[in-house]
Amino acid sequence: MTENPHLDTTAITAGRRGARGLSADIATSTVWSSEGLDATHDEIVRGRRGKAYSRYTNPTVRQFEEAIAELEGADDALAFGSGMGAIATVVFALCSPGDHIVAQQQLYGGTLALLAGPARRMGIDVTFVDATVPGAFATAAKKPRTMLVIAETPANPALALADLDEVGSIGGPFTLVDSTFATPMCQQPLRHGVNISLHSATKAIGGHNDALIGVIAGETDIIDAVWAHSVLHGAAASPYDAHNALRGVRTLAVRQERQCSTAHSLAEWFSSQDACTAVHYPGLASHPQHELAARQMTAFGSMLAVELPGGPEACTRFLQAVELARPATSLGGPETLVCHPASSTHHGLDPESLSASAAAEGLLRISVGLENPGDLIADFERALTKSRS
Ligand SMILES: Cc1ncc(COP(=O)(O)O)c(C=O)c1O
Repeated sequence: MTENPHLDTTAITAGRRGARGLSADIATSTVWSSEGLDATHDEIVRGRRGKAYSRYTNPTVRQFEEAIAELEGADDALAFGSGMGAIATVVFALCSPGDHIVAQQQLYGGTLALLAGPARRMGIDVTFVDATVPGAFATAAKKPRTMLVIAETPANPALALADLDEVGSIGGPFTLVDSTFATPMCQQPLRHGVNISLHSATKAIGGHNDALIGVIAGETDIIDAVWAHSVLHGAAASPYDAHNALRGVRTLAVRQERQCSTAHSLAEWFSSQDACTAVHYPGLASHPQHELAARQMTAFGSMLAVELPGGPEACTRFLQAVELARPATSLGGPETLVCHPASSTHHGLDPESLSASAAAEGLLRISVGLENPGDLIADFERALTKSRS
């Protein structure tokens, strides 16, 4: 085996080193029989390392977890039935009534809703901060009540960044970064001292819009503690989704290379268009946090956002005009998708949270797929023209 292989090489065998079958088997059984009472007891006591019941652990899911741990440089990883399953389980595993969370205000709408709703209802105090302000997380931390710091970078939907070194240096006790937009190919939060790296693997890691699955990676003690709660929370990952996501891992590096490169070209092209008032992409020198992006990311991701001067009406006309790109709310797959966050992923937020999350009324989020970049530009050129009429 090559020593210290590059990440794209690691991705090919991650989680499956030594397996003779080149595709993972799908372990469909929800339960395993044993030799008798004592043997069943032993498997249950071995918990995550036992083989008793699929909500505790499943061999296919385990391979996916091991693959992500390898890509993240983590001791271990834990998969869930969705990205939100991962976030909710971590929050309620680590926090109790009276504890405090410092969270970025620029977050995926579901995470914002969870923190502002159920978390506060359970007596967890949440302070939202602007991640683009240096020192904002540390300033808001209330020792010893702050139990969890939550960042998302690049953030959904307008690509604001959080400084990974800054988050990693907060003596938590726990720090979590939602790294969904970056994937392990573009940034590695744990290498900056962050405790938990989280992904909605439904997105680019799965990469084919056919797996709903979330995952966290970190040190064994933290993963074990979250696992103990997760078996009660019940947001277990399905082996079918884990199988699809594991297949996605194999091609993640090449897909990301192409998607990041097309996203960069599109961001430059949109920047040259009068019909666009703002373009948000961390790879552009005009992005206010470009230097930070260059410091902590190895590529700038496959997501960008553009603002149209005509507000929601112009966005509607744009979405009606695209023929190649499709109006849809997910991201990271082979098809280029465009969504209007204010009325979809961030719908239902109060006006203050909406504006703090930067989901402006005239903003469109674009998940760049694998199509030919020239064809995408032709599609967007037509849509921009229509957006003005
Ligand atoms: C950044 C981010 N985190 C988490 C989630 C939630 O993931 P899932 O849809 O897999 O629950 C999403 C969904 O869009 C997201 O964009």
